[in-house]
Amino acid sequence: MTDEIAFLLNGRKVSVSDLPPATTLLEYLRSTSLTGTKEGCAEGDCGACTVSVGELRGGRLVHRAVNSCIMLLPMLAGKSVVTCEGITGPEGQLHPCQQAIVDTHGSQCGFCTPGFTMSLHTAFQAGTETSLGAINDMLAGNLCRCTGYGPLIQAAREMHDAPMPDWEVRRHEDTAAQLEVLAKGGGGEFTVDGQTCMLPATLDELAEACERFPDATLVAGATDVGLWITKRFRVLKTMIFLNRIEELRQIEKTPAGLVIGAGTTYSDAMEAIAGLAPDFGELLRRIGSRQVRNSGTIGGNIANGSPIGDTPPALIALGATITLRKGAVRRRIAIEDFFIEYGRQDRQPGEFVESIFVPRPAAPQQLRCYKLTKRFDQDISAVCGCFNITLENGRVGEARIAFGGMAGTPKRARAMEDALHGQPWTEETIAEAMDALARDFTPLSDMRASSRYRMTAARNMLRRYHLETMLPLEKTRLVGAGAGL
Ligand SMILES: Cc1cc2nc3c(=O)[nH]c(=O)nc-3n(C[C@H](O)[C@H](O)[C@H](O)COP(=O)(O)OP(=O)(O)OC[C@H]3O[C@@H](n4cnc5c(N)ncnc54)[C@H](O)[C@@H]3O)c2cc1C
Ligand code: FES
Ligand code: FES
Repeated sequence: MTDEIAFLLNGRKVSVSDLPPATTLLEYLRSTSLTGTKEGCAEGDCGACTVSVGELRGGRLVHRAVNSCIMLLPMLAGKSVVTCEGITGPEGQLHPCQQAIVDTHGSQCGFCTPGFTMSLHTAFQAGTETSLGAINDMLAGNLCRCTGYGPLIQAAREMHDAPMPDWEVRRHEDTAAQLEVLAKGGGGEFTVDGQTCMLPATLDELAEACERFPDATLVAGATDVGLWITKRFRVLKTMIFLNRIEELRQIEKTPAGLVIGAGTTYSDAMEAIAGLAPDFGELLRRIGSRQVRNSGTIGGNIANGSPIGDTPPALIALGATITLRKGAVRRRIAIEDFFIEYGRQDRQPGEFVESIFVPRPAAPQQLRCYKLTKRFDQDISAVCGCFNITLENGRVGEARIAFGGMAGTPKRARAMEDALHGQPWTEETIAEAMDALARDFTPLSDMRASSRYRMTAARNMLRRYHLETMLPLEKTRLVGAGAGL
C-alpha cells in the first residue's frame, strides 16, 4: 500500500502524492512545463493532447495512444507516459516519425502537430500496417480543420520502412525493466483535498471497496467520467479506479462464446469480438477514435446506461448476459434487463459489472450492425441498429433486433421481431416488419437527428439487412468490414 501515484514520465520515475485524484494527465503535464502536449477540446475529441501510455502485458511493453485530457492521474499507476518532448534520441536525433513528418512537409500548426506526432510515434512502436484504411484509422482521432491529412498519411507510410534506432531499442528495454519494478508497487487508498481515491488490485479488493463506499464513482477508462470533470466540473469525492485489476481485463474464449472482463478496453476486445461476429468487431472500430478505444471499456459502455452507447444493441441482439457482483454475491442477468429506463439501470449500490458473456452465434444466424452518424469516424450514433436473424429454408427462424438512439435505453424491437418470426424472407415481410417498428418506438428529436429521421433510418436498416443477405457486401458497403473500397 502506498499513498502516491508512481509512473514513468519520458523514462524517469515520478511520484505524485499532493494532487487530487481527479487531476488529468494533461493538467499535470502542463503544470510541469511539458507544454508540448496541447489542450484543444478537453473532451477526447480532437487529439491535440495525445500521448503514448505504455504498460507491461504478459511481460511485453505495449504502448497505446490516449487522450491525456480525460485520463486521470491514478490511472497511470505503474505505467509509462511518453510525451512529444520525450521521443527524440539522446543526442537530439529525430525519431523516425519526426523525420518522416519533416520529409513529407507534414508539420502543421502548434496545436495539432504534437498530437499527430504522438499518434504516429505510437503506431511506429506497434509496427502498424501501411494500408490507407489502417492509417486513416490511426489518424482519425487527431483533428485538423484547416490544413490537410495528405502529407501526414505519406509520413505514416514513410516511417513504416525506417529501422528502429538502437537508442530507441535501448530506451524500450530500459522502460520495460523499470516497469517490472514499478508495476509491483503502487495503489492503495489516499485522500487529497477531500477527494478519496482507491486503487484495488484484485476483484476481491474491488468488491470490498465497493461495499465500504457504495456511492463511490467507479472509474474504468474515464471516457465518460473524465468529461464529467472537465466539462461539467463535477467534484467526485470518492473514486474507485479499476485499472490495476488484471482479472477485469481477461477475455476467455469458450466453445459457447466469450467471457469478457468488464475492464477490457475496446481495443483489447476488438480481435476476439470480430472473430465471433465480424460486424460487431467493425462496430467497435467505429467507436470514438483509436485514442478513445484504447481507454474506454466495454463494462463502462454498459454501466453508463447511455441510450446511444454502441455495444448494448449488439450485445442485446446476440443475447449476451452480464455478471454483476456485490461483495461475494454474483448474479447473472440478460443484458437487456439491465436497462430499466433512461438514467436507471438494474445495479444496486455497491454492485459492479464484473464480466460480460457473449454467446457465439450459431451457424445460420447472421449479425449485422449499422451505426448511423453524421461523420463516419469519431462520432456518436444517431441510430445504431443490430440485427441477429436466423434464416432457414427461405424463412425467418429466430430474430433478435435491438436499437440504440430510438428510446431512453438501448432496447429490443419486439414488434419488428414478431412481424418477421416464421415468415418468408420476402420484400412483403420486410415491408410489414418495417411498419411494425412504429409500435416499438417513438424516438426523440435532438441535436443528432429528428424523430422522423431516426424512424426512417431505423426502418431502412432492416431493408439494408435484407439486401445484404442477397448481395455481396462489397455491393452494399463503401467502407468497413467486407466493403468494396
Ligand atoms: C471522444 C469520445 C467519443 C466517443 N464515442 C463513442 C461512440 O462512438 N460510441 C459509444 O458507445 N461511446 C462513445 N463514447 C463514450 C465512451 O467511450 C463510452 O461510454 C465508454 O465505454 C465508457 O467506458 P469507460 O471505461 O471510459 O467508462 P468510465 O468513463 O470510466 O465510466 C463510465 C460509467 O460507468 C461506470 N462504470 C465503469 N466501469 C464499471 C463497472 N465495471 N461496473 C460498474 N460501473 C462501471 C462508471 O462509474 C461511470 O458511471 C465516446 C467518448 C468520447 C470521449
Ligand atoms: S484536448 Fe482534445 S482530445 Fe484532449
Ligand atoms: S489544427 Fe493544426 S493545422 Fe489544422
